Amino acid sequence: MTKIGTAHASKPWNPGSWRSFPIAQVPDYPDGALLGATEAQLATFPPLVFAGEARKLKRALGKVAAGEAFLLQGGDCAESFAEHSADHIRDFFRVFLQMSVVLTFAGRSPVVKVGRVAGQFAKPRSSPVEKVGDVELPSYRGDIINGTDFTPEARVPDPRRQIEAYRQSAATLNLIRAFATGGYANLDNAHRWMLGFVKDSPQSGRYHELANRITEALDFMRAIGIDPETHPEMRITDFYTSHEALLLGYEQALTRVDSTSGDWYATSGHMLWIGDRTRQPDHAHVEFFRGIKNPVGLKCGPSLTPDGLLGLIDALNPENEPGRLTLICRFGADKIADHLPGLIRAVAREGRSVVWSCDPMHGNTVSMAGYKTRPFDRILSEVRDFFRIHEAEGSYAGGIHLEMTGKDVTECTGGAKAVTAESLATRYDTACDPRLNAEQAIEMAFLVADLLKHEKAARGPAVPAAAE
Ligand code: PEP
Ligand code: CO
Repeated sequence: MTKIGTAHASKPWNPGSWRSFPIAQVPDYPDGALLGATEAQLATFPPLVFAGEARKLKRALGKVAAGEAFLLQGGDCAESFAEHSADHIRDFFRVFLQMSVVLTFAGRSPVVKVGRVAGQFAKPRSSPVEKVGDVELPSYRGDIINGTDFTPEARVPDPRRQIEAYRQSAATLNLIRAFATGGYANLDNAHRWMLGFVKDSPQSGRYHELANRITEALDFMRAIGIDPETHPEMRITDFYTSHEALLLGYEQALTRVDSTSGDWYATSGHMLWIGDRTRQPDHAHVEFFRGIKNPVGLKCGPSLTPDGLLGLIDALNPENEPGRLTLICRFGADKIADHLPGLIRAVAREGRSVVWSCDPMHGNTVSMAGYKTRPFDRILSEVRDFFRIHEAEGSYAGGIHLEMTGKDVTECTGGAKAVTAESLATRYDTACDPRLNAEQAIEMAFLVADLLKHEKAARGPAVPAAAE
């Protein structure tokens, strides 16, 4: 394995070593003393997740890398302080579970469930300023940094927002843990909700067959005595959290030594990822990420070259550990065919173990009727090409990464109950990028299920991994 290497590898790492590297997308905090005091306070707070959970997720992702499981990652583009009700979290979780049932059945393999949730607050921006008419103000950078209102006061970065983001993350995670283990995630429930979706969908004929087969499988299992009452694995589920670790001061404050292994773990979420705008190889974000032992993601956009990717893999996964690194590809429906094959070949040639995941959202944003939107057909087209290219290259299309919500918003156009350009204004609620609504998200799961079934058939039966 040839190592390309970066400036980082030879230097010692600590949770604050990123501070001596150049950094992109940092907010301009006017009150440095308050920022320091806030970070010091955060450093005294309890961790949100445990190292053992992050390790468990890494093992699950290792199975994805080996072609034995599928990754479903999704949630809000940006969580918001204003939208923090139990209903919001429950509706998201419910849609996520319905999607997982469909994908598990179609792929005949476990679905690793990772929410963009309980910490997804900081947003990179293409432009540092936003203009409305003649007024120009600093861009909104996520609720953990500043406010959405288009006023000079709201747009000033305020460190105290980090405390609120931490507390909201803790409350969200608490409810999600209760849902995942307290009976709500029961397979019969998820299946019943999914049937409700199929009944109401204009495409119900299309989804009927798969839904019926799941019903039959569950009926059969019940007949032989396997049901949620007797089998806890049918009533509880593993659900993990993830977010873009953009705000490194916040992340550093929550990075702790794991007493079991002596290693450093980010405890703000199970999995963190590096955004497409902050993956410069010799910059601060890559430096921070190389030292934490969590599973990590890397957004791969059109400007990433095969050699650039190999250099980043050297920095982020030098031991070639399966499940450590997920490549979240976000090229755009019109660009994926030009970019993805070269990256897959470089990774295969060098024998690197990665999870290949498709983010069909971020390369397909267009403007319509004055709104940022994403046409469902373009999203689907990128997903289809992702699977097609992996099949042609003999690699495994291992996951999907979606911006989605459990609510009936009108932010992305198309889908079975076609959201039109004219109807975007009806419920355009996102704090940042347009999300699939609940029905569009489940519909996407059914469409991905077809692709997974095909992938399974093309690859033949999976060879079980050796026992750990
Ligand atoms: C995001 O995932 O919300 C995002 C900003 O993505 P990217 O870094 O790929 O543009
Ligand atoms: Co986004």
